[in-house]
Amino acid sequence: MLKNAEMPNTAGGKPDLYRQLTESLVAVLGSERNLVANAANTASLLFMTLPDINWAGFYFLRGDELVLGPFQGKPACVRIAIGNGVCGTAAEQAASILVADVHAFPGHIACDVASASELVVPLILDGEVRGVLDLDSPIPGRFDAADQTGIENVAAIFTRSSAWPEQAGD
Ligand code: SME
Repeated sequence: MLKNAEMPNTAGGKPDLYRQLTESLVAVLGSERNLVANAANTASLLFMTLPDINWAGFYFLRGDELVLGPFQGKPACVRIAIGNGVCGTAAEQAASILVADVHAFPGHIACDVASASELVVPLILDGEVRGVLDLDSPIPGRFDAADQTGIENVAAIFTRSSAWPEQAGD
């Protein structure tokens, strides 16, 4: 379901929306450092706040693949090799990827057939990719540069607020 009714006051457009979202995120995370707890609350906040989203969540780097972390939305594929799909490509390139039409992205991995557009942002700690933050929408072209900037900021706040264990390879 679309959640327009749950949108905060966005008279100021997306910059205002993301300003409110990051204020809420800082408040929700507080001084907590647990990675899973912070990822779960960040995914929930994104899913409840942003309109026209059908999936929001994390993949964490384990060895040479991404492994599913906390998320909101339908069950998703658990392991994605680096370089595969939108998530694996964003991790490989250490760069955000905006996909207006997932069906036009070579190798896109369809977890929810309703997904039409996608935004994937890498989680970078001390210059190293540690995972990705992934948002899906049922609306083609849902994400733009303002969303990318806003979600990169969310990813940075989450990444520096959380304690990262050494890679276990699990
Ligand atoms: N579409 C992603 C896979 C993850 S799901 O969207 C949750 C991809 O192509 O990497």
